[in-house]
Amino acid sequence: MGKLLLLLLLLGAFVLLLIQAQERICMSCHMFVNGKCVESEGKCTMEDGGACRTRDIYLFNARGGFLYNHTMLECSKSCKASEESYFHLKISTFCCKSQDFCNKYKGK
Ligand SMILES: *[C@@H]1O[C@H](CO)[C@@H](O)[C@H](O)[C@H]1NC(C)=O
Repeated sequence: MGKLLLLLLLLGAFVLLLIQAQERICMSCHMFVNGKCVESEGKCTMEDGGACRTRDIYLFNARGGFLYNHTMLECSKSCKASEESYFHLKISTFCCKSQDFCNKYKGK
């Protein structure tokens, strides 16, 4: 009886592992503008632990504000949501793994 229980537990753990190690297909695009990819459209596969990444690129303009310019879509092994500002550039990063191509809908 004890052995059977152990076997069941192992089986359960194995099934859980299989579910977790699911692959996710992300959209990749070097330049995504107005809902369309205008440069290097493709897809990439992300394994366990990674996520699809969306990065909105803003450029500093003469009037002193950041203006949205384009979006980049890609796979990331360690995606972290963030907002980084450089001198003339701002990058907003989003991550998702809820469904295949989920990063396609996150960009502006
Ligand atoms: C801004 O977006 C345009 C496409 O709309 C692109 O051609 C240009 O290279 C982008 N500028 C920068 C600095 O990434």
